[in-house]
Amino acid sequence: MHILHVVGARPNFMKAAPVLHALRQYPGIRQTLLHTGQHYDAGMSEVFFRQLGMPEPDINLAVGSGSPTQQTAEIMLRLEPVVGEQRPDWVLVYGDVNSTVAAAFVCSKLRVPLAHVEAGLRSRDRSMPEEINRLITDQLSDLLFTPSPDADDNLAHEGISPEKIYRVGNVMIDTLIRLLPQAQTPMDLSGLDRFVLVTLHRPANVDDLPWLREMLAALVEVSHDTEVLFPVHPRTAKRLAEANTPCTGNPRLHLLPPLPYLEFLALQRDAQVVITDSGGIQEETSYLGVPCLTVRENTERPITLTEGTNRLVGRDISQLRQQLRRVLAEPREKPRAIPLWDGHAAERIAKILTALP
Ligand code: UD1
Repeated sequence: MHILHVVGARPNFMKAAPVLHALRQYPGIRQTLLHTGQHYDAGMSEVFFRQLGMPEPDINLAVGSGSPTQQTAEIMLRLEPVVGEQRPDWVLVYGDVNSTVAAAFVCSKLRVPLAHVEAGLRSRDRSMPEEINRLITDQLSDLLFTPSPDADDNLAHEGISPEKIYRVGNVMIDTLIRLLPQAQTPMDLSGLDRFVLVTLHRPANVDDLPWLREMLAALVEVSHDTEVLFPVHPRTAKRLAEANTPCTGNPRLHLLPPLPYLEFLALQRDAQVVITDSGGIQEETSYLGVPCLTVRENTERPITLTEGTNRLVGRDISQLRQQLRRVLAEPREKPRAIPLWDGHAAERIAKILTALP
């Protein structure tokens, strides 16, 4: 059996790594790893491959930046001949980035079987590009691996036949569990024992400059009481430069470059609270038992609200301030185990794939 994995953006790498590893235990499986090049900076891509112990991609489409449409179209154009020539038995796609949906389209046109890892998540917010990517990818998939019961329900509701759906758990947590013992605080931050960790990169947050300025003003305010660590995504860095923000020169608000996996994991583990608009971080903080305030109106990962440590603060700066005060004052709760977020999701995927006729 030949399996082609398609990855492209930072959050894909932590999801694909355990699946590649689990499939390596089956001698009859040939694997090809393809990187679309959606994320191309060394700090957004290369370092993750190294820390996750992933092999060099066999193929790199090197698409680079562009508008979402350009990027998706370019991936499709460059991927089609590869899939057409190799005709793998399965193409595996991960998460909800542009590379995921582009590969799904190509497979459906070429009638190559497609499996989606992290299927079924829904925010019900179609203004979010990832929601469209998720809806389309799931409709085009022949096999859907879900992380939680809500995802199964969403797929059933959209008419996807139950025999295509397998609830396997959370592959991103597989990686977290494996690498947590190696998590390492960046040297220059090792003296800090109390800090708030921040990541913001969604267009809805960072492309709206008045709102971005408001959030930064709130972070400056927090930094009077505690250190604030803010690794800045390339998109956000551009916007901060445009926004003429009030945060530079504030010694307790640390604007950092994007961090490698092991360093960011150590900061998540040790943070008093994480403020984010990322999807994966809502899950990682829930697993770690670290309070998470999500600067979004909705989440495609509702299990992190009901079983985890996540709270939505929406686009409401007074909510953010109020929730921050609350978490900083409260004792931390013990994390609750979420079913199947146990470090073995990728093994389940490998077992299912290799047992297929
Ligand atoms: C993408 C995903 C998002 C995920 C995020 C993680 C989509 C629709 N979005 O968003 O779901 O949470 O990755 O980071 O696929 N850039 C660089 N260097 C890089 C990568 C990006 O400078 O290595 C800059 C470019 O100017 C680019 C912009 O960041 O245009 C946005 O990158 P893009 O891949 O389009 O989306 P992300 O915002 O990273």
